[in-house]
Amino acid sequence: MTDLKKVRAKGEELRRVIRHHDYLYYVLARPEISDTEYDRLFNKLKQLEEQHPELITPDSPTQRVGGEVAERFAPVEHSSRMLSLDNAATEEEIREFEARMKRILPDAAFNYVCEPKIDGLGVALVYQSGQFVRGATRGDGRVGEDVTHNIRTIRNLPKALRGPLARIEHVEVRGEVFMWKAAFQKLNRDLEEAGEAGFANPRNAAAGSLRQKDSRITAKRPLDIVLYQLAAATPAAPFATHWETLEAFSKSGLPVSPGARLCSDLDVAIAYHREMEKRRDKLGYETDGVVLKVNRLDQRQTLGMTTHHPRWAIAFKFKSQQAQTRIQRIVINVGRTGALTPSAEVDPVEIAGATISRTTLHNADEIARLDVREGDLVLIERAGDVIPHVVERVPDPEHESRPRFEMPARCPVCNGHAYRPEGEVVWRCDNAACPAQLKERLLHFGSRRAMDIEHLGEAVVNQLIDRELVKDFADLYHLEVEALASLERLAQKSATNLYEAIQGSRGRGLTRLLFGLGIRYVGEHAAMLLAQQYGSMEKLLEATEEEIAAIYGIGPRIASGMGQFLAQKENRRVIERLGAVGVRMTEETVAVGEKVLAGKTFVLTGALENFSRDEARTFITRLGGRVTSSVSKKTDYVVAGKDPGSKYDDAQRLGVPVLDEAAFKELISEK
Ligand code: IVH
Repeated sequence: MTDLKKVRAKGEELRRVIRHHDYLYYVLARPEISDTEYDRLFNKLKQLEEQHPELITPDSPTQRVGGEVAERFAPVEHSSRMLSLDNAATEEEIREFEARMKRILPDAAFNYVCEPKIDGLGVALVYQSGQFVRGATRGDGRVGEDVTHNIRTIRNLPKALRGPLARIEHVEVRGEVFMWKAAFQKLNRDLEEAGEAGFANPRNAAAGSLRQKDSRITAKRPLDIVLYQLAAATPAAPFATHWETLEAFSKSGLPVSPGARLCSDLDVAIAYHREMEKRRDKLGYETDGVVLKVNRLDQRQTLGMTTHHPRWAIAFKFKSQQAQTRIQRIVINVGRTGALTPSAEVDPVEIAGATISRTTLHNADEIARLDVREGDLVLIERAGDVIPHVVERVPDPEHESRPRFEMPARCPVCNGHAYRPEGEVVWRCDNAACPAQLKERLLHFGSRRAMDIEHLGEAVVNQLIDRELVKDFADLYHLEVEALASLERLAQKSATNLYEAIQGSRGRGLTRLLFGLGIRYVGEHAAMLLAQQYGSMEKLLEATEEEIAAIYGIGPRIASGMGQFLAQKENRRVIERLGAVGVRMTEETVAVGEKVLAGKTFVLTGALENFSRDEARTFITRLGGRVTSSVSKKTDYVVAGKDPGSKYDDAQRLGVPVLDEAAFKELISEK
């Protein structure tokens, strides 16, 4: 073989291997290699293609990272109308749906494929001889927009088909581009940190990301896709049912709806709907119902469609988690970091069994975006355990006459200067001695995972701050029993207990102290890494921001939080005073040789009784181990708590040892 031939063969091999792992990871959710290993393969291919650009193929995994800039979106006429779906809200309406079909096919028995109705963006994709060539949005159903470049960046979409569909010359499939809720929340956090406005919901985030002019931006967005319809195939595909079609999708590498199910009759389909409604908040994606589709394609053919929707499918909606109510008042809360967070007091309404009288408004930008004012009628939503939020303002003629809401220029608690730091969405009170901040910070300082001071509850903290007995953390340790006993509703005995709890907390160590100080971005895990790295506050105080940023697992954001904290004289003084009253400023570090979990990879699933996720992760990392999010053959242990998720099944399938909580405790405490 010539050298170039060898390189070409190597490139093809790498592409094949990467596609295989994409398929395992995204379609089967059963990865066999670690993320690092995957990145290594990917970078190898990238390097090779950089050296030999003539070998780049359009379907290479590297090409989905975008880069091309589409001037505008060209119109695409769909091969057939992209219809919408008829809706049903009740079981009765679903039975009517079947009755309508029975009038056309009186002797038929129907089985159904049920799929979650994912809240995203409908798209139509064309593959030619197995190669992805075009992707378009639904648009008005007849004409959509050409978003091929952007669709190419979606990681779980194969750019080349395999299996049964690869052999068909022309294939058009339709499906939904969407964002997982967790990915959406992370995206919003990242956007907000960068000073940009976040999206209102995963659907908007998916739509906004897909309709970017610059596909490099789309490539950075965590988009996902599922396919649920074969709209055209030339020559015709040999499938008799929708279920067979979905199976062929899977075999061809096309991701299908998570949780799609074949139901033998309407009752089974209704049971599926009930089950999904119950699990709705745990599904990980936004959905407002399930789609019932007649399975047999010949029956579909006979049933046909109206001008709006097919007669053989229907969306069976879940009970609404939304309700209309009126905003009585917009109030501002002051948090531990001085963040001023607006929320709305609303006329109490019941949503899915809970009475709601307050909703979050997130920040001033959100209020401006929604244009909500006191007295306005609004649509609010309660999803899962998330705090209820305002979805939109309901238009009403009085709205314009109401004064626009403005963030106060002064902190509602201490009257300090309120301002919006450059590049941030959040308003802050700049008075570090603001009682509201002090209260929140003191509660955090004494919380179980920080200095763990029992009996230091809200009622006590409020009095300590209001009576100016405590102005900073160090004051806490100067409190005498008599002073504590003078607080309302605190008998001598409780005062003594509290005194002892405070004094007893002095030995907690540097990790908990750092976490307790409430430094921006320094969570439990970062605190542990810092304490392990430096061993003492003295050494940490000497460290530069660059040094801190270079610690594995820390990064620039935490380092700058640390830097800003240490740059303030008052903070250094409090630390000094804490040291003076005997608060321990050191941590026992684990020497490299004692890092008995070094090189071991863990995955956590389910709820542990004695540890939070963060704590478990901290223990593992402290001993040199690593925690990753997905199970592969390379995973050393899966730690399974109560109600473990699919990762437990993955472990079983891959033969990865599973530790229960007791075994995990033993593993980390032996050391
Ligand atoms: S089938 C002809 N299946 O819901 C049938 N649609 O209101 C076409 N959607 O525009 C749609 N999940 O964007 C179908 N599993 C699913 C779906 C789904 C979400 C969206 C789709 C469609 C809209 C219909």
